[in-house]
Amino acid sequence: MGLTAIVLAAGQGTRMKSALPKVLHEIAGRPLLGWVLAAVGELAPDRTVVVVGHGGDAVAEIVPEGAVTVVQDEQLGTGHATQVAMEAIGPAAGDTVVVLPGDTPLLTGATLRSLVAAHHGGADATIVTTELDDPSGYGRILRDADGRLVGTVEDRDADPSQLAISEVGAGVYAFRAGLLNDALEEIEPVNAQSELYLPDVIGIMAAEGRTLDAVPAPASEAAGVNSLAQLAAAAAVLRRRINAGWMEEGVWMLDPDRVYVDAGVVLSAGARLYPGVHLEGRTVVGAGAEIGPEAHVRDSHIGEDAVVRYAVLEGADVGARVSVGPFARLRPGTVLEAESKVGTFVETKKTRVGARSKVPHLSYMGDADIGEDANIGAGTITCNWDGLAKHETKIGDRAFIGSDTMLVAPVEVGDGAFTGAGSVISKDVPDGTLAVERSQQKLIPDYAARRKRRSRRSEG
Ligand code: UD1
Ligand code: CA
Repeated sequence: MGLTAIVLAAGQGTRMKSALPKVLHEIAGRPLLGWVLAAVGELAPDRTVVVVGHGGDAVAEIVPEGAVTVVQDEQLGTGHATQVAMEAIGPAAGDTVVVLPGDTPLLTGATLRSLVAAHHGGADATIVTTELDDPSGYGRILRDADGRLVGTVEDRDADPSQLAISEVGAGVYAFRAGLLNDALEEIEPVNAQSELYLPDVIGIMAAEGRTLDAVPAPASEAAGVNSLAQLAAAAAVLRRRINAGWMEEGVWMLDPDRVYVDAGVVLSAGARLYPGVHLEGRTVVGAGAEIGPEAHVRDSHIGEDAVVRYAVLEGADVGARVSVGPFARLRPGTVLEAESKVGTFVETKKTRVGARSKVPHLSYMGDADIGEDANIGAGTITCNWDGLAKHETKIGDRAFIGSDTMLVAPVEVGDGAFTGAGSVISKDVPDGTLAVERSQQKLIPDYAARRKRRSRRSEG
């Protein structure tokens, strides 16, 4: 007996007021549909089918290998979307089919597993329900006086007494394939939206005397995302889940409500995260690293015991015990070797800072290769762009770059070499050499007194 999962993801998501197809809106760096497919993956179905329509190509792109996409050309409702999928895959009558929406990112694999387990207890159809304090917008569950499931009614079609029902459908079902096909043939678009509603099959099966079951899910899992406000609310729930998971693993957070960790990020026990930290993409953080307050880190590696404060990092590789910030910007291709430092108001791009080297203040290092134990004085700039092309700067081990040095690339400063403060260095500096490029200082004695006499004369 096979198990097929059908995910409905063809709707436009009009209520999002966004050109992006609804299921591609992201939470923690993962599209809504990605969250749903991750939960489906935990069910290990024999087949996963995703129904796409609006923005179909873009949606199909995030569907993992192994899953099938089926196109619903016209969005005639969730019942129609299910028909399209069933026609495309033609499961055997005895197979189990799980149908769920692509816009419920909070749903867990555990709830899907308990749905299937309950369904295999002998039901013809099983629906996931939940109790909501505010059920508005959801389909309500209709039961008879004995509490038996008799059908559902959509929010827009409900009368006042039905609107008062707090038990709602989560849009998630398990069916016997043959009976689902039969019931789908009977649904009609007679409702406020003139759509073919999938939940109508519950009422049809109840009228036919089929065995129906309902599986309760926590309210925190059932929320569908139809608007940007609901997207933010779901994001808050997932953030709490993700952060609780990392704290469980030994990651310290001062205020987990203000730490934002993408689904694909990997943290180590002993990492310490202060408020305002955003860790995105494929970021990896080592043990004992301290990040924040305030840091925006994307696709970067932060080594053990590194400290990163008030900083923006993208595509950077920060080694062990490195110090970054406050107020630093590390752009792609930045490699900071162990125990180096990139300090206040420093920007780096495609630059290696060798072990124990320091760029402490107010510098731009672009296309630079800095050796070990070098010191870059405050205000040093690599002039890497001549208006036509980028050029490289090489700074040797133990080099000492005086404050406010302009390094006009391509240029090389040798091992143990020095540059004088304020120099514009456009020629290579050999190892151990001091390069000074500035005019001799003139001294004008008695200047202050002469100035005073001059101004008195002009006043008189
Ligand atoms: C739906 C359910 C409602 C349930 C709620 C739970 C229906 C009619 N209503 O309402 O009972 O309480 O979910 O969140 O099913 N879709 C398609 N093709 C279509 C229409 C929709 O693929 O023609 C997809 C959408 O992309 C979406 C999902 O089906 O992922 C649900 O559609 P949506 O419009 O969000 O339904 P709700 O109004 O939330
Ligand atoms: Ca929805």
